[in-house]
Amino acid sequence: MARLLTPIETIAVLLPAFVANASPVLLQKKGKPLDRGAVFIDGRPLLGAGKTFEGLLIGLAYGSTIALLFSAIIGSFSIALLGTLSSLGGLAGDILGAFVKRRLGLERGAPAPVLDQLDFYSGALIALYLAGIRLDIVTVLVLALLALILHKTTNMVAYKLRLKDVPW
Ligand code: CTP
Ligand code: MG
Repeated sequence: MARLLTPIETIAVLLPAFVANASPVLLQKKGKPLDRGAVFIDGRPLLGAGKTFEGLLIGLAYGSTIALLFSAIIGSFSIALLGTLSSLGGLAGDILGAFVKRRLGLERGAPAPVLDQLDFYSGALIALYLAGIRLDIVTVLVLALLALILHKTTNMVAYKLRLKDVPW
């Protein structure tokens, strides 16, 4: 049976995906590409060098840590599991986003407005939906707006910290 989350629970299970999505930038472009340099039938990289095993692990580690923290605050262990699931969904969405970007002929790191900001968020939502979780719709929309705004801010911060070469 589907479970409907409160606004607070909705935030608690979605914010870990934000952290999971943002943390791989700490790798500073190191890491083994998930696609191992594979090329798709269009002659372009399958995913490109911006999606790595290490990035996946860092994202999962940070995302699940935040999920555990929120679950402790709320006092429900299922929040930790759902936050980890949403982090995994977010990381998968980001990978799918990279696949789409490569098919559009965009180089690794090239900006793709909306797709860049919402690929991980959609992935997180789909993962939770498939697990039978129904979220508070107003909170989902507010966090989508936050994703659109935060992406610009965090990328600018990462650029200033020299973690990224470009401010987007
Ligand atoms: N990253 C990683 N592994 C992942 C996701 C991200 O190593 N699974 C790292 C990469 O160094 C990447 C950086 O985090 O460059 C920022 O992530 P993102 O902005 O999603 O990648 P882009 O550089 O924009 O690459 P793409 O165009 O493929 O999205
Ligand atoms: Mg991206």
